[in-house]
Amino acid sequence: MTLKLVIIGGGSSYTPEIIEGIIRRHDSFPVTEIVLVDIKTGQKKLEIIGDLSLRMIEKSAKSIKLSWTLDRKEALKNADFVSTQIRVGGLEARSKDERIPLSHGFIGQETNGAGGIFKAFRTIPVLMELAEDIHTICPDAWMINFTNPAGIVTEALLKHSAHQKVIGVCNIPFNMRHSTAEILGVSPDDVKIQFIGMNHFVFGQKVFVNGMDRTEDVVEKLVGDHFDYSPANIVNLGWSKTFIESTRLLPNPYHQYYFQTKDVLEKDLQAYKENGTRAEVVQQLEESLFELYRNPELRDKPKELEKRGGAFYSDVACSLMDSIYNNKEDVQTVNTFNNGAIPDLPNDAVIEANCIITNHGPRPISIGPLPATIKGLVYQMKAFEELVIRASISGDYNDAYTALLMNPLIGDEKRSKVLLDELLEAHKAYLPQFNSRGN
Ligand code: G6P
Repeated sequence: MTLKLVIIGGGSSYTPEIIEGIIRRHDSFPVTEIVLVDIKTGQKKLEIIGDLSLRMIEKSAKSIKLSWTLDRKEALKNADFVSTQIRVGGLEARSKDERIPLSHGFIGQETNGAGGIFKAFRTIPVLMELAEDIHTICPDAWMINFTNPAGIVTEALLKHSAHQKVIGVCNIPFNMRHSTAEILGVSPDDVKIQFIGMNHFVFGQKVFVNGMDRTEDVVEKLVGDHFDYSPANIVNLGWSKTFIESTRLLPNPYHQYYFQTKDVLEKDLQAYKENGTRAEVVQQLEESLFELYRNPELRDKPKELEKRGGAFYSDVACSLMDSIYNNKEDVQTVNTFNNGAIPDLPNDAVIEANCIITNHGPRPISIGPLPATIKGLVYQMKAFEELVIRASISGDYNDAYTALLMNPLIGDEKRSKVLLDELLEAHKAYLPQFNSRGN
């Protein structure tokens, strides 16, 4: 029996995580073959990651065949799982997503505001093509998408590609659960957070430890100790007592962009002056990571990888594949169609939700209606995401303009156009859908 995993964006510095995750779960999820795929410009990195992965596998003594290639179509043959972790335009494009909005007084961030919109514009067409290839070459394979903006990308694929075996994953719910367990002094396996919302816009409604409601304890810690479940890319500013006590929700780290916009802008401008954009910081981090990866003595995932915001994502991706493969029917937080879990959102809206994971995919657990406090904003964010998807596919200037205009972090008639024009120009090499319409 064979079990084949193809990693698209295999040259990513995150790949050792997923290799480690596969090795660790090999008894229950016995992958027999891994193929790392990348594009020509990523070939050097791909080779370094390929060599390190081989050393990790050799050390583990697991029987896994690993290879790497630039030939995606060939790699996809007989795949059972395809994971995606790509960055169209690389960190240079991310740096523009962060710098250009900031230079106009707006949040510059890779998945939020104008930066997130342009990341979606660059990414969706590329992943649509990949999904078509999967559908033709390995139609039974599950596509596990970690590529950002993960929720929007997953919705675009599920709504507009023929391939329906697509699930989006993110490390934020995982981080929230693990940090909550830490502050309560319990095991993460015993903690369940009732999530409600969308990727990077998800709230925790209730926290249960072995079935006991511990929400109040967590709320108290959030207010008092400013406990932090932010990934490495976000500096937590803490939440006020009033915010937590009145919303009675656990915000996720990305909510700072929406509820602390001015303070975050100040903080980000300061950080930009000191160290450049996060993309530039990551560029340096990557250089030192690849320096480590090159060492022929290295046979494990280095601890330094935890300095990346996406650390631990592979735990999410690997547990998910393990549960699908074994039809575990356990509960995991993933991005999938709402299908009635939140009755006031459309069935085909992609939400980040606790789901029962079966070999037919995720089944979202009923959540109930949106609390009045966040209802308006969630509606707006969902409608905005639809506009982003529409523009990503149509390549229409006016569609793109409305996406910026209706984003709660932009919403300014004139400046939406300024941002749009500048970002369209800056990213034109990666936006064929807009170029071909003469925008
Ligand atoms: C978080 C997010 C990811 C994002 C990452 C950025 O963990 O959940 O979606 O990609 O941070 O981290 P980086 O180290 O690239 O700034």
